[in-house]
Amino acid sequence: MRNKTTYACQQCGHQTARWMGRCPGCGEWNSLVEEKMVSPAKTVRLSPLSAPIPVTDVAATEEERYATGLKELDRALGGGLVPGSLVLVGGDPGIGKSTLLLQAAAALAEKVGTVLYVSGEESARQIKMRAQRINALHPNILLMAETDISVVERHIHELSPAAVVLDSIQTAFQPEISSTPGSVAQVRECTGVLMRVAKGTSIPVFLVGHVTKEGTLAGPRVLEHMVDTVLYFEGDRHQSFRILRTVKNRFGSAHELGIFEMRDFGLIEVSNPSALFMGQSSRGVAGSVIVPSLEGTRPLLVEIQALVCASGFGTPRRMTAGVDPNRVALIMAVLERRVGLRLAAHDAYVSAMGGVKLDEPAVDLAIALAIASSFRERPVQDRLVVLGEVGLTGEIRAVSGLEKRLQEAAKLGFSSCLGPLWKHQRDSLGIINYIEVQSIHEAVEAALG
Ligand code: TYD
Ligand code: MG
Repeated sequence: MRNKTTYACQQCGHQTARWMGRCPGCGEWNSLVEEKMVSPAKTVRLSPLSAPIPVTDVAATEEERYATGLKELDRALGGGLVPGSLVLVGGDPGIGKSTLLLQAAAALAEKVGTVLYVSGEESARQIKMRAQRINALHPNILLMAETDISVVERHIHELSPAAVVLDSIQTAFQPEISSTPGSVAQVRECTGVLMRVAKGTSIPVFLVGHVTKEGTLAGPRVLEHMVDTVLYFEGDRHQSFRILRTVKNRFGSAHELGIFEMRDFGLIEVSNPSALFMGQSSRGVAGSVIVPSLEGTRPLLVEIQALVCASGFGTPRRMTAGVDPNRVALIMAVLERRVGLRLAAHDAYVSAMGGVKLDEPAVDLAIALAIASSFRERPVQDRLVVLGEVGLTGEIRAVSGLEKRLQEAAKLGFSSCLGPLWKHQRDSLGIINYIEVQSIHEAVEAALG
């Protein structure tokens, strides 16, 4: 059989013989990607490893985990590294993925044994220089600058290291497939090879994956589906803190969060993360409110700042950064009408900190309270988060994923939340004191009294 080319939809998996702008299966635009099919092997080889066995006879080694030596990483992994697991660490270029994994490699090399660090992005010399700088030099780390996945596979079998790091999956390639490295077909094939190696040998494998502009892992969803654990490494490059967020975990909770700070000598773990987000300087200052927003499936705590001051003359200025100006105008009109704040002759500046863009309606109430707080020159209470959509009649509407947001807020050290009516079980709140409000008027009274 000849090798043939097909086009597969990255959304629904529909396959067509030629490229189309729109998937006939699900109607998604621009989702068809070329894939080269390798003709299947003629004979099926049976391996004793894959023979069916009664479920009761399966050796349950799943529970044993080992600590990587980086507590925040262990936390994100759900309490340590599971043997034979495939862990994907995704993030923007330059955020610190290589640094994190080199540090993890050093810690593992110290505690567990040989770690094979494969890099297709940097030379062994570059990695050594970095290791020196971040104090991660250990003779048990074996470096290999290699991109051919079959060579990597052979070395893993020969060395049988305690763990493997592959930096990055987008540079790896399988020579039998003619697509370029980083293409869907290559990413899938290389991940498949590592998956087999990890499962067959019980060696845990870390994969680095780059994130596209849209914020998803390049070499799309296939990658996330294949691996056991997906961690995102995030942060504002102009600030020093970094968040390691669990997005998927077959061996633990998918709501974990590890927090680090990037220093000159590498990443250090942050034991008191709430301090980073509550803004040491803006705490107790009028015009600052924290909102637990939900970015896709990932909650993110963001400080919203507002400054309201009397307008000089003419039309008042309304400026925003990171939030929708139309939304701010609407919220100000509601505040004026429903709460009685006389904002019409005032300039207002509203911004979301850290350069994030918030476009979900759940941030409305936080914007409203930041404006009201600045206008009244009275700060909201300490360690409070605020969320809820504001309607035109001043009602506070429900938001999605409340539980997830609150878990995150609790994790980051917040103790109370002002939000919409919510039928909930008390124990789903964690340590958060939840204050229900039905109208914007009620919310302003509760927060600013
Ligand atoms: P890196 O781990 O190379 O990022 P990634 O692998 O995600 O692309 O980190 C690169 C950035 O981190 C770079 O901008 C410099 C910064 N950095 C420090 O601030 N301190 C350090 O000790 C190291 C190693 C890097
Ligand atoms: Mg890197």
